[in-house]
Amino acid sequence: MHRFLFLLVAVLYWPFPGNSQTISSPDKNLTLRFQLTDSVPYYSLDYKGIPVVKNSRLGVTLANQFPSFLNGFQMKDQTTGTKDESWNPVLGEVKTIRNHYNELAVTLNQPSTQRTINIRFRVFDDGLGFRYEFPEQSNLNYFVIKEEETEFALNGDHKAWWIPGDYDTEEYKYTTSNLSEVPKLFDHSYDGNASQTIVPMALQSPLMLESKQGLFINIHEAALIDYAGMNLELNPYTFVLKTHLTPDAQGMKGYIQTPLNTPWRTIIVSDKAEDILASKLILNLNEPTKFATTDWIKPTKYIGVWWEMIMGKSSWSYTDLDNVHLGKTDYSRLEPNGRHAANNQHVKDYIDFAAKNGFDAVLVEGWNEGWEDWFGKSKGYVFDFVTPYPDFDIAMLNNYAHTKGIKLIMHHETSASTVNYERHFDTAFKLMNQFGYDAVKTGYVGNIIPRGEHHYSQWTIQHYQRVVDKAAQHKVMVNSHESVHPTGLSRTYPNWVAAEAARGTEYDAFGGNNPNHTLILPFTRLMGGPMDYTPGIFQTRLDYYFPGDDRFVKTTLVKQLALYVTIYSPLQMAADLIENYERFPDAFQFIKDVAADWDDTKILKAYPGEYILQARKAKNKEEWFVGGITNEDARTMTIDFSFLDPGKNWIATIYEDGKDADYIKNPQSYHIYKKKVTSKTKLDQWMAPSGGVAISIKVAD
Ligand code: NOJ
Ligand code: CA
Repeated sequence: MHRFLFLLVAVLYWPFPGNSQTISSPDKNLTLRFQLTDSVPYYSLDYKGIPVVKNSRLGVTLANQFPSFLNGFQMKDQTTGTKDESWNPVLGEVKTIRNHYNELAVTLNQPSTQRTINIRFRVFDDGLGFRYEFPEQSNLNYFVIKEEETEFALNGDHKAWWIPGDYDTEEYKYTTSNLSEVPKLFDHSYDGNASQTIVPMALQSPLMLESKQGLFINIHEAALIDYAGMNLELNPYTFVLKTHLTPDAQGMKGYIQTPLNTPWRTIIVSDKAEDILASKLILNLNEPTKFATTDWIKPTKYIGVWWEMIMGKSSWSYTDLDNVHLGKTDYSRLEPNGRHAANNQHVKDYIDFAAKNGFDAVLVEGWNEGWEDWFGKSKGYVFDFVTPYPDFDIAMLNNYAHTKGIKLIMHHETSASTVNYERHFDTAFKLMNQFGYDAVKTGYVGNIIPRGEHHYSQWTIQHYQRVVDKAAQHKVMVNSHESVHPTGLSRTYPNWVAAEAARGTEYDAFGGNNPNHTLILPFTRLMGGPMDYTPGIFQTRLDYYFPGDDRFVKTTLVKQLALYVTIYSPLQMAADLIENYERFPDAFQFIKDVAADWDDTKILKAYPGEYILQARKAKNKEEWFVGGITNEDARTMTIDFSFLDPGKNWIATIYEDGKDADYIKNPQSYHIYKKKVTSKTKLDQWMAPSGGVAISIKVAD
């Protein structure tokens, strides 16, 4: 009776009948509420009754058109639905992914313009995704976006792991602070690495947050296609975040032709930090692949002619001249500088070493003409991507590699001249097919050309897509550096196997990564997809090569091993020089053994910036690998082996920090031993300051 009364009252007094709608996640922990208030769309999200996002505005401002998509809406239609399916990624952290959500799609009508837009919400057990959809219609064909006005009104002064907003780079150190402290720390956060295009008081996504009530919240975007990349403006007093899209050369944010769906805005939430790392929400919001065949897309472990240039021991360029004129200079008549790393003999040594140690491929940078002039000149035409230097015999080296079962990885540094790259990429990809390359590393160092565009503006997002499409036509895998933050597109375009798009190992030679850096990346940058972090540096102190040099990689050697498990990428580099792997063959064994593609992943323990412990099962093999890492604090973590099949006996090879290991004073101290383990084993494992543990586990004979 009372219940009936309540319902009756609710029906009679509900202020906006039909203007509000609520849906929950399949497990009922999350509740999404949409409502039109005074003809303006709002949404809110709760987790177990706690507000994650308070009532927040939705909308898009148009350029030169009134009214915008901000207000004046009526509810035209609402549909709800449910999906529960499973799919198998081509390469991935797990074999099978469940895509299970409840959906609400609202169709809003703007009577003054006779236009409609849809807002689609999907609520999963691990979070929310929503997007705007602009259907094709007679009153809405072309339009220009001035700004997207989506808000995320957070429920308090959360702790945040953040890098400053920027239109061109994510290669920043992370700052950990409360949101209210961002204004005080903002200018320091870029630490001399400022690009010209920092967005004041904005943060980049994926943004990782922890609330005072113990909720872990991750905000990002999924399926970024044909649209500008997003930063998040912060109001440090109200804790409201708002989308800030990357502009083009004219300051506009998107040239749209209907029909168009925007990228999804994603909010992943849990009261356990581990669940954030395990979330597959971003992948699930991307479309299934339409590729007819995918057998040419393979996990790849590689070494490369690379770190020696990054640290300054050798050069990409063949000469030390300036202003060499590409196409008009006869390089064979020039004086080589004697430091050119991509030479026939050196590359052959790398091929031999790769073959001997079970690698799949060798990356060679600096193989092609143009490196004399590539950096910081905004020249536009530096590379043609097809002309090797005189000491790099492309046919001979590929033949040599193939006879040993090794592929060379192509390198296309575009020096950010996207137009020049597109001018040449047909011939460049044909050359790759001609010589049997199956992967390319692209790069976008410098200011984007067309001038005035940015690394994350709509044009450049479309460019990355054109490159991935072109590569797919030629059955080539892509690893893009200095490209936009990944948004799960590897589901749709599985040949986009990895990207950098964050501060990687190269910064250990350019000013350093903090000991907590790789403890934050999985909660931020990696939420969108695999990262070519390029771990595996055994000789962490660079004064080994250059006496007096104070640069060093701020980890122990063992932590470098553990990164092969904690940083997901189906394309994994062993980045150090051959000579260093030869100095530590027993530790190198872990890199030789570790898989790059997985049947299963268990996040055992994790907290952003402090510790990560996880176990992964190799694809189609009865082998597990464990990686544990810590920040600058030494710590002991208990490894619970209950992820192992209880019916089997296992033998673990444990690579641990030596008792006297320390990332500053004694990074190369380690200890390796074997131990029988079962699903009942629990191991208290000590890790040195900025150290870790790496374990490979096989079935005992
Ligand atoms: C920056 C990339 O991240 C790095 O890996 C590459 O070696 C240089 N650009 C040169 O292309
Ligand atoms: Ca880079």
